[in-house]
Amino acid sequence: MKIGIFGGTFNPPHLGHITAAREAFALLGLDRLLLIPAGLPPHKELPAGSPTAAQRLEMTRLAAEATELGDRVEVLDLELRREGRSYTSDTLAALKAQYPEDELWLLMGTDMFLSLQTWHEPERVLSLVNIAAFGRRAADTESSFAVQREYLCRTWPQASIRTLSIPGVVEVSSTELREKLKAGQGSDLLAPAVYGYILREGLYHTGADLKHLPLEQLRPVALSYLKHKRILHVLGTEQEAARLAERYGADVEKARVAALLHDCTKKLSMEEQLALCAKYGIRLDELEQKALKLLHSKTGAAIARDVFGVDDEIYSAIWYHTTGHADMTKLEKIIYLADYIEPSRDFPGVDELRNVCYEDLDKGLLKGLEMTIEEMTAMGNPVHHATVEARDALKG
Ligand SMILES: [Fe+2]
Ligand SMILES: [Fe+2]
Repeated sequence: MKIGIFGGTFNPPHLGHITAAREAFALLGLDRLLLIPAGLPPHKELPAGSPTAAQRLEMTRLAAEATELGDRVEVLDLELRREGRSYTSDTLAALKAQYPEDELWLLMGTDMFLSLQTWHEPERVLSLVNIAAFGRRAADTESSFAVQREYLCRTWPQASIRTLSIPGVVEVSSTELREKLKAGQGSDLLAPAVYGYILREGLYHTGADLKHLPLEQLRPVALSYLKHKRILHVLGTEQEAARLAERYGADVEKARVAALLHDCTKKLSMEEQLALCAKYGIRLDELEQKALKLLHSKTGAAIARDVFGVDDEIYSAIWYHTTGHADMTKLEKIIYLADYIEPSRDFPGVDELRNVCYEDLDKGLLKGLEMTIEEMTAMGNPVHHATVEARDALKG
C-alpha cells in the first residue's frame, strides 16, 4: 500500500492544504493519506484567539472531509498527544513501525523541503520515507527544487525524492489568512465547514455574534456541524424550504434558518445525544430512548435555540421535522417536507410527492406521512405516535 503523510500546524487548514492533499494523492497514486496536525510547544505563549489542540484537530478533520477522499484520508492526533518536543523523525518511526510493509511518502511544501537538512535527524527521516515536495505557489517550478534535490541526494544517497506540481495550486499564507479572518475576510480560502467552525468557535478574533448571524455566515456554521456527505442534503433542504415558503407565503428567512440547522446534531452518537437531552432537560418516551434518528430533531432544536437564538417557530419546526404531529404550523410542514423532497433525494415516488407538495401543502404532507408510515412498517420499524396522529388529523 502507498501511504501519504502530510503534517503541518494546520492553523488553520485551508484550501492550499486541501488542494495539495487531493492532487498529491492522485499524482502519487496513493491508497491512503494521513493528515497529522503538529503539536505546538506547550510552553509557548499563543496569542489570544489561537485554537487549542482539540480545535486544530477538529478543523483538520473537517478539512480532511473536504478533500473528498472519503475513508482513504485519516487525521491522526499522535503529535498532539505527544508530550515534550515533537520531532517528525519520531512520528515517521512510529508510522513505519505501524506500516512496516508499506511505501510511505512524506508530503511537504516548498519551504519545508528547502530546509530539510536543518530538521532534527534528516538522515533518519530520509531512511524512513520517500519525499514528495510540491510548490505552494504557481511560481514554484521544478527549478525551485532541483538544486536542493541534488544536494540531498548527494549528501544522503538513500534519499528518494519526487517533486510535484499541483494543478490549480491555491496560494495561501496561514499568517495572512489569520489576519484576513480578523478583518472579516478570508472565507474564500477555506472549506466552508472549516470557516464555519472558526466562526462558531470565535477563533482568530472573528468575533461573530452567533445569535444574530446573517444567512451567509449561518450557512457555513451550519455546515461545520455535519458529516461531509450530508452537506448536499442540508443545502438542498434550505433551497427547497425557501421555495415552499415562497409558494405558500411563509417567512422565507425563517424557513432557511430552520432548514440549515435541522440536522445540526445528526452526526452525534447516542451517548452524545443523551448527554444533550440531559443538558437541555429533554424528556424522552420509550421509543425515543432507543431511536437515534428521533433524538437529533430534539437536540438539534435545543442547539438552534441555545446557541443561535432561534425563535419558537423555528425551534418547533426543527423539533418536529422527523415525526410531525397533529396540528402542524405552516413552517413545521415546510421543513418536514423540504427535508423529504429536497433535490438530492432520490427514491421511488419522490417526483410525484414533489408535485403534490406544490399543488397543496396539506395533501403533500399527508402523502409524505403515509409514505413514511408505510416504509417504517415494511421495514418492521415502530412508527412514532406523533406521526400517526399527524396523519389521522389530516385525514379528519
Ligand atoms: Fe433530520
Ligand atoms: Fe434532514
